[in-house]
Amino acid sequence: MSVFNIALFGIIGAILLYYLYVSSQSISIPFELQQIQEKELEARQKESGNKNYQIPNFFFVTPWNKEGYRLTIKYAQKIDMVSPAWFSVRYNNVIDGKQVVNEQWMQEIVKANPSIAIIPRVQIELQESSFIQQINNPQLLETIINLVQQYQDKFHGIMIDTPYLSYIDAFDAQDIVKFLQKLKAKLNNKMLVLTLYGIYNPQQYKHSTLRKLFKIADYTLIQTYDYQIQDEDDQLLSPYQWVQDNLEHFMTYKEKLLFGIPFYGFKKTEHDKTHFIGNELLKLNASNFITEWDRSSSECRYKNELVSISYPCPDFLVYRLEIIKEFGRGYFVWEGGQGIELFYQLL
Ligand SMILES: *[C@@H]1O[C@H](CO)[C@@H](O)[C@H](O)[C@H]1NC(C)=O
Repeated sequence: MSVFNIALFGIIGAILLYYLYVSSQSISIPFELQQIQEKELEARQKESGNKNYQIPNFFFVTPWNKEGYRLTIKYAQKIDMVSPAWFSVRYNNVIDGKQVVNEQWMQEIVKANPSIAIIPRVQIELQESSFIQQINNPQLLETIINLVQQYQDKFHGIMIDTPYLSYIDAFDAQDIVKFLQKLKAKLNNKMLVLTLYGIYNPQQYKHSTLRKLFKIADYTLIQTYDYQIQDEDDQLLSPYQWVQDNLEHFMTYKEKLLFGIPFYGFKKTEHDKTHFIGNELLKLNASNFITEWDRSSSECRYKNELVSISYPCPDFLVYRLEIIKEFGRGYFVWEGGQGIELFYQLL
């Protein structure tokens, strides 16, 4: 063989090897509704498997959508932190929600993944007019600490949810920061998780405030869903560019931030717009819908003359997981019970 032939075969061999490598790496992702429905039925027969994305994650589950309990147990080995939305603190500092605590689920999920962290959500119901007084009332702190102590052996921390945190700079940020610092100190080694709305403009939060909040929290959830829709016709859930803007905006902070991925959607008709969840997707007659990929937002829609459904599809999910991973961050899901198993298989 001449030198030329050897070089040629070398190149052909390298190309072949490259193609073999690429085809072994890429998981084929279903796209059309009918394909998604078929693959979902297959996914339901499969085992969980391990994480595909080696980044931190956090799943909400709710007592009103019980499918989340089953799915988080089945996929527990892919989940780092799970947050049941059980509790709220009322205006009078009384905890509500102990009646929905699901002890059996806690036992089973810890059995399925002994290193999973259970970090329940506590919603604080505050009144705008007396917000700061409530925050400064030592009873609020005591109520939350008592709750954590009552479940000392079961909870690994607490997730504090109040929309006021997202408007912190409009209030006395210092008082809120002090409250959270005291709370964190009293939690001993248990985790404190906070949450903020995603940014729409770079001035939304003061840099100095964010620095303090992120330092107190073990994790902060940036809500890159519930996109605020300006146009009535709009059906955006979590436009890709906006997710990217958020990842970029928070890049200067080195603390642990998780970015939100929705497992819910909307169904829009001429008359109304309603919530839409994964189980309903399976019930659609696929031959009556076309699947549309909106390039500008990287979102899927299922459409016909009467309805348009915005609901995440496997591509939607993979695009967002990839960019979140690229930025070295983690993700959180609202909420586990509204997704399909195909999503869980991809995580
Ligand atoms: C789905 O829709 C097609 C076309 O409208 C119809 O022929 C078919 O019977 C429907 N299938 C079911 C299961 O309803």
